[in-house]
Amino acid sequence: MTKMTSQYVRIKNTAMKLSTVCAFAIFSFTVVSASDLYATNRLIQLSEDKQEWLSESQINKLISSDARFRDITDIRDVPENANQAALLDIPTSLTHQKLVSGLLPRVTKDVPQSVLANLTSFTNRYYNSENGRKSSAWLLSTIQSLVPGINANSFPHRFPQPSIIARIEGTQNPNEIVIISAHQDSINEEDPVAGRAPGADDDGSGTVTILEALRVFAHSGLKPKRSVEFHWYAGEEGGLLGSADVSKAYEGKKVAAVLHFDMTGYPMSSPAVGIVTDYTDSNTNDLLRKIVAAYTDLPTNDIVCGYACSDHASWNARGVRAAVPFECQKVEGNTNIHSPKDSIDTIDFDHLVKFVKIALGFIAEVADAD
Ligand code: BES
Ligand code: ZN
Repeated sequence: MTKMTSQYVRIKNTAMKLSTVCAFAIFSFTVVSASDLYATNRLIQLSEDKQEWLSESQINKLISSDARFRDITDIRDVPENANQAALLDIPTSLTHQKLVSGLLPRVTKDVPQSVLANLTSFTNRYYNSENGRKSSAWLLSTIQSLVPGINANSFPHRFPQPSIIARIEGTQNPNEIVIISAHQDSINEEDPVAGRAPGADDDGSGTVTILEALRVFAHSGLKPKRSVEFHWYAGEEGGLLGSADVSKAYEGKKVAAVLHFDMTGYPMSSPAVGIVTDYTDSNTNDLLRKIVAAYTDLPTNDIVCGYACSDHASWNARGVRAAVPFECQKVEGNTNIHSPKDSIDTIDFDHLVKFVKIALGFIAEVADAD
């Protein structure tokens, strides 16, 4: 892979952070000179009616200005409601309570804690860097050692960090897939390549949440009727890049639903599960509310990101059902993200394991395990 040489010179005015308030405004005095790893520029959606072809360094300026954007290079030709005809049924009520209640005591805090300690020890997990490549290789080997015999592989992209896909084959309808996902990359928005970005909550928390769900499910010996896949996307922070590639590669496959975990470890004073209602599927959200009620002691609260804030939006753009259980009742909760402050000591593992239980409930109900 190309070696990256980059130099970041920052003259960033903190007042520029106000650009967050103005959702699509782009202001930044950051001067970036980096040799782009992108072979070609990317088509970036800057607002509802503005799209531009930008280079990696231009995209990194957007990130450091906290602008809202989305890489639509690979989804620009997808028709509205693509895949709609292929929508698969998902349950409307719960029928696996007994089975799930047998699984829940197997969920540990120790495994998520030790995996997250290792993940956050990388300087960062920036997708377009050697750190991002190495952290992904470490995660894949950790998955393989925690779940011996698992079918787990890396999924390469045009940048150094691969996504990771682990699969448990369905016994009756193996072509129908239930996806449990998180993003493995982290970012320091001031200095993506060299800055410290432990990404403990964003999204180390989701990464270890779904790994613990995989570990518990795989060791339980339960057989799902539909196939179950666990996806750790690369490059989410670069504009949903990993999930854009993976969802494109899954065109024509029967994906029943995607449950995406992005931030599960930072509750607010009255703990709750946020249900993201934009860029998600209302039937899956209805089911998710029932799963949270049945398998945790937390209330739910509907929330909106207001933009394509994580990888569920890549699936939603392709007409695939997606839902996101979020760590708290407001999207403005954790102000540490994208900085060195997003560290493991801020993570509440008692809260995080409740999301492992949600993942297990979802797998049992939607993939029909028995
Ligand atoms: N985890 C965040 C999204 C998020 C942050 C959701 C706070 C709810 C509350 C995600 O990793 C992220 O940073 N997304 C980017 C957009 C993406 C297209 C680069 C963002 O929110 O700016
Ligand atoms: Zn983020």
